[in-house]
Amino acid sequence: MTESVEIPELMERLEYGPAPESAAEVRRWLEERRAFGHFIGGRFVDGSDHFDVANPADGSVLARVAQGGPDDVDAAVRAARAAFPAWAALDGHARARYLYAIARQVQKHARFLAVLETLDNGKPIRETRDIDIPLVARHFYHHAGWAQLLDTDPELRDQRPVGVAGQIIPWNFPLLMLAWKVAPALATGNTVVLKPAEYTPLTALRFAEICREVGLPDGVLNVVTGDGDTGALLVRHPDVDKIAFTGSTEVGRIIRRATAGTGKKLSLELGGKSPFVVYEDADLDSVVEGVVDAIWFNQGQVCCAGSRILVQEGVADRLVHKLRQRMERLRIGDPLDKGIDIGAIVAPVQLERIEGLVEEGRREGAEIWQPSWGCPEEGCFYPPTLITGVSPAATVAQVEIFGPVVVLMTFRTPDESVELANNTPYGLAASVWTENINLALDVAPRIKAGTVWVNSTNLFDAASGFGGYRESGFGREGGREGLWEYLVPAWHTEGPDPGDADRPAADNAGRADRHGEPGPDGDAEVDDGGPGPDGTPAVDRTAKLYIGGKQSRPDGGYSLVVRGADGRRLGEVGRGNRKDVRNAVEAAHRALPGWAGAAAHTRAQILYYIGENLSARQDEFAAGIRAATGETEAAARAEVDAAVRRLFAYAAWADKWDGAVHHTPIRNVTLAMPEPIGVFGVACPDAYPLLGLVSTVVPAVAMGNTVVALPSATAPLTATDFYQVLDTSDLPGGVLNIVTGPRAELTEVLAGHYDVDALWYFARDGGGEMVERLSAGNMKRTWVDRVPRDWSDPARAEGPEFLRHATQPKNIWVPYGA
Ligand code: NAI
Repeated sequence: MTESVEIPELMERLEYGPAPESAAEVRRWLEERRAFGHFIGGRFVDGSDHFDVANPADGSVLARVAQGGPDDVDAAVRAARAAFPAWAALDGHARARYLYAIARQVQKHARFLAVLETLDNGKPIRETRDIDIPLVARHFYHHAGWAQLLDTDPELRDQRPVGVAGQIIPWNFPLLMLAWKVAPALATGNTVVLKPAEYTPLTALRFAEICREVGLPDGVLNVVTGDGDTGALLVRHPDVDKIAFTGSTEVGRIIRRATAGTGKKLSLELGGKSPFVVYEDADLDSVVEGVVDAIWFNQGQVCCAGSRILVQEGVADRLVHKLRQRMERLRIGDPLDKGIDIGAIVAPVQLERIEGLVEEGRREGAEIWQPSWGCPEEGCFYPPTLITGVSPAATVAQVEIFGPVVVLMTFRTPDESVELANNTPYGLAASVWTENINLALDVAPRIKAGTVWVNSTNLFDAASGFGGYRESGFGREGGREGLWEYLVPAWHTEGPDPGDADRPAADNAGRADRHGEPGPDGDAEVDDGGPGPDGTPAVDRTAKLYIGGKQSRPDGGYSLVVRGADGRRLGEVGRGNRKDVRNAVEAAHRALPGWAGAAAHTRAQILYYIGENLSARQDEFAAGIRAATGETEAAARAEVDAAVRRLFAYAAWADKWDGAVHHTPIRNVTLAMPEPIGVFGVACPDAYPLLGLVSTVVPAVAMGNTVVALPSATAPLTATDFYQVLDTSDLPGGVLNIVTGPRAELTEVLAGHYDVDALWYFARDGGGEMVERLSAGNMKRTWVDRVPRDWSDPARAEGPEFLRHATQPKNIWVPYGA
């Protein structure tokens, strides 16, 4: 019986033996190739300026790859363009077969790809074998399904591919990020030029071979290797229709600015500083394993890493103690060893960055804790690190460290936890740990993040969208949500509507000068509209701005004269300035929590009521529109009628634009909830002064956003009449604010404002470039509408296209099981 006493002790003392995965086959493959060119038009072409790709675990050179220059990028884009028409025209089933074949090949070569990825990136083989590569296959299977369904799905069949997609991916999940981008692009009929990260291009090159092996038509997928300069060439190439980028927020900003005004569709998946929130009733042992997955998975080089532990005070000490014990038992070392938990950091420059940031934490007074064991001397290794004693504003609590380093802070109440969770500019992911489902589901919607995991972390699946809120970027990857990045409504590509498209620019051009020069308030031009009917002067009419539910005099005290289609002076509107826009944004912020939190039914009722009150004043509005636009009475009345219908339509949508429960393949429900984005700026179209305002402002309002609207520049009095309708319709003050004045100046303030979350631009005056460029500051969601759009046609000016832009999906993962 002595043995049974000794076994537990023995277990304590047992040392792991090495369990290396063989790399022989991969090394042979590398040996045969040594120097890689680019994959363009279905074949490998010689590249130039080759550079070394190293194994971060030991610094040895694995291969040499080419640095893509202008000619390479251009050749790849031309190949993708040439392949596009035939690929887009293939029926969905044919594309599904290709994607299915790729998925099968990935599975058949899973061991090879896992080893190659581990050699190239330094991540443990356990992860590449059990997570990265299976998920790559899963993405191609899932998207083979979308390709199949594209022609018949009622929502998707009226969509078309965008064209040539330029895709730029990072080094932390090289093949998985490729799959997240390539699978949806190909499924929806786009062709691709992919630029893998300079540290980790090898699995993308092997993937190119797989595409050739399955007979993917030449030019459908092209791979150009190189560093950021190559990426920049792809971003700037004029014949690329869409850029999809994953990487640092800094480069995301550069790309946002570089694509501004080009009409390129853009999705950005950027960094994060994701909160990992632990409430005092959480199962702390599960929490500890959660932290291991949150921050030591892939050495913490994960955009959605749970890098900020927020723990309720009462259990903080116990958690820290348990974490330190667990950290002592983590194993770091040869990534090819199947028993290793933590592998190598991707490159020396990244290691230096981590070291530098941890040192900064130390300087700022934080307590740095690392396990007693040492890291391997050779290669790029950094130990798991727990930082305590930091303030929420400390550098290590705010900046993405992108390494195996976690900071821990405490909170007292759930409200405080939400405040702390949201206390960074990012919003990629969060995890929430509590045994209380009520608390979890109360907190999850309040955290600003694209993904919230309840009692779990770092779960990914092809059926669920993934992407950011705020400065973590925009757009989604995965599931139906991700397809929209690669689709446009078919009618966008069919050319202008033959009918009354937008009441085109020519019509408006003559009206632009209908604004008088600004004059001091009260000292505006004398009304030249002639005397009133009884010979008395016409009643002076100066419409104020509408801010926070109140009429408000413009800050500068100036107004603008508004003239009608016949040149007659119709009145004046306030000349809003920078200060007025700021006030309006503040009012919109104050109104946001109440409005976003109101029941959809309540919002619907208010919108119906606005419709009802507008309808009661049809004659008056029609007369105003007539005077402003010179339209016939019938057309003006039709515009009012269409505006009432549109209000009813969005009242109807308010409680019907709902989410989904995704079929993610674990014991789990994934709730995809469309959430409001926040405070919107909307530059309304000039044409249709009433219908244009209603069509662009109301979808945002219906979804729970609050708005600062810049109404039609040529006919602003209709909008100022409209706020009288709002006043009688129970719309809470601040939900819709209207600022009249010089549009370029006001738009510039909105675009640069850090508290504006989204900016829609429907004016046709070329201001879209500025909107997109300045929005890079806080990564606003922008929508610069460039297609001629007939505002009277509900099929083109109403419904899902608007609602998708007005919301962002949040995916809440809730595992179950007793
Ligand atoms: P990065 O953002 O520079 O690189 C990502 C990709 O963008 C690479 O393929 C790179 O070649 C390309 N790129 C770089 N500059 C470009 C430009 N001007 N135009 C177009 N493409 C360009 O990231 P990097 O330098 O590798 O890492 C720096 C930091 O970025 C990390 O420490 C981490 O904080 C963050 N990062 C975040 C990632 C995420 O998934 N959120 C992924 C990689 C890095």
